[in-house]
Amino acid sequence: MRLLFVGDVVGGPGRRALESLLPDLRSERSIDFVVVNGENSAGGLGITEKIASGWLASGVDAITLGNHAYKHRDVYPYLDREERIVRPANYPMGNPGRGHTVVERDGMRLGVVNLSGTVFLDAARSAFAEADAVLADLRGKADHVLVDFHAEATSEKVAMGWHLDGRVTACVGTHTHVPTADARVLPGGTAYISDVGMTGPRGGVIGVQKEQALERFRTQMPVRFETSDDDDIWLNAVVIEAGADGRATSIEQLLLPG
Ligand SMILES: [Fe+2]
Ligand SMILES: [Fe+2]
Repeated sequence: MRLLFVGDVVGGPGRRALESLLPDLRSERSIDFVVVNGENSAGGLGITEKIASGWLASGVDAITLGNHAYKHRDVYPYLDREERIVRPANYPMGNPGRGHTVVERDGMRLGVVNLSGTVFLDAARSAFAEADAVLADLRGKADHVLVDFHAEATSEKVAMGWHLDGRVTACVGTHTHVPTADARVLPGGTAYISDVGMTGPRGGVIGVQKEQALERFRTQMPVRFETSDDDDIWLNAVVIEAGADGRATSIEQLLLPG
């Protein structure tokens, strides 16, 4: 099983990079499953039904989200209805959408889980206890499991990697938009990276126009943020390979100019 996971797609530039690179990536690397984090895909914050349904129609198997999942109200009914998009599982019960799902391709079943960290981010329940509950629910329903841990602190992410080692195929970090250099397969067979990075414009500040971000830092006044319109666009992703036993055998980091 070969899985491509794409880090936070930011705005129109990120979407165009994804859409232009995905077909060749998929065929050249014999990818079975494609999972994309789309929490910044609509104007830099959140996602819309139009974007999500377009990706799913073009062969993306599942979409994960994060702290911007609920930015656009119009998407709430879609999150309830579409089983291939997930928001953090440890958000309040009854919030729109679901926190985990199972998608199938060529007779293989991939469980996809989204969790939010609780260090510098708000969530209703511990990500660690929630991971245990979700895995109990997925038992017997999935051949491989991918966890997108959307979290700020590297310490919390490394801890989650150890919490899940040997229990899931992959635990990949998102949210910071900056890729880390620690991709590896943990001893129990879980592919791990603290942060995959972002797919979008690198000439801003984690996707935001650099002049606006700098003004905010310099003045500490409210500033309207827009997606950076620079032309230094990158796709940040990982390719994970796993055996039929659900254990990962490799994780490769992809940092590709868009
Ligand atoms: Fe993000
Ligand atoms: Fe985020």
